[in-house]
Amino acid sequence: MKALILAGGAGTRLRPITHTRAKQLVPVANTPILHYGIRSMVAAGITELGVIVGDTRDEVMADLGDGSQFGASITFIPQDEPLGLAHCVLIAHEFLGDDDFVMYLGDNLLEQDLQAFVDAFVTARRGDTPPSAQILLKEVADPQRFGIATLDDEGHVVHLVEKPADPPSNLALVGVYLFDREIHEAVAAIDPSERGELEITDAIQWLIDHGRRVRTEILTGWWIDTGKLTPLLEANRLILETLTARIDGSVDANSFIDGRVVIEAGAEIINSTIRGPVAIGPGTRIVDSFIGPFSAIGADCEVRHSEIEHSVVMERSKVLDIPRLEDSLIGSDAVVSRTKRKPRAIRLMVGDHCQIDVE
Ligand code: G1P
Repeated sequence: MKALILAGGAGTRLRPITHTRAKQLVPVANTPILHYGIRSMVAAGITELGVIVGDTRDEVMADLGDGSQFGASITFIPQDEPLGLAHCVLIAHEFLGDDDFVMYLGDNLLEQDLQAFVDAFVTARRGDTPPSAQILLKEVADPQRFGIATLDDEGHVVHLVEKPADPPSNLALVGVYLFDREIHEAVAAIDPSERGELEITDAIQWLIDHGRRVRTEILTGWWIDTGKLTPLLEANRLILETLTARIDGSVDANSFIDGRVVIEAGAEIINSTIRGPVAIGPGTRIVDSFIGPFSAIGADCEVRHSEIEHSVVMERSKVLDIPRLEDSLIGSDAVVSRTKRKPRAIRLMVGDHCQIDVE
């Protein structure tokens, strides 16, 4: 079995961060989102990976390399325009050949590992009525944002619709799919949707309409489509909660570390309190500060005279003299500081197209 990992797309909902970085490389608990999907693929025994890349191909290719860091081999497949998920299958045909494959959306994060999901498909394929596809469904509160499935009384999927204004159910398609080679006929047969994309949802509907069997599984653990700020911080929170506490950096006698905290080698904690779950990257200095629950501070950052909670701060950034920073996403190489002589004034360095809410 092979895997097709989608790491293209513009990431418009995470601007300004995605002006300068692929959305799949935004870190969650100090690890790029995309790495979790790749690791879970390798853990399920799938090591031949095709990665679809778009405008951000240079960064994605530089970050993943040849895949050996994950124990996998990676073939990059460029997509010149974001023409839809089914279009990704179309252009990956040569890489995929006639093999069964997992398709994984690189901005999705799942609690559950993929092994059981893959095993269920492999077993069903050996049965009397082998499925052509297997989809993973999860109940959601906002079905207008997803592909939505309708099941019959026996739990078989009968209808799929992409981002319906009037959702027929609240069962969303999770961004992990299993296919056999029949999907190539489907993606070649469908027309673009109203938003001008070849939808994988429509390709799966084509399989159903042509009498192919599509298996469904209901996801039990959490699932997050990380493309926006709130779900991204939520994913950061959930992953931080799974970390094993470890202190490889230095902590001075005036500092206090409490709970599930990871401090990487070369990090320094000086006269500060760190209350987990928190991850502090290598080479980062935390001085006279409080880092509160659900924060991830990347590598080589500096936090001085500040309080941070429920936030992601990316590598090489500085947070200086900020009384309280919460629910925030700070890009890399940023400086957030405040002039002490004017306590009410906040000085910000702001990139293009930022939206700032000052309350
Ligand atoms: C895509 C799919 C949608 C699916 C979702 C899962 O939507 O089109 O069916 O439910 O991923 O993350 P997109 O994130 O491209 O809007």
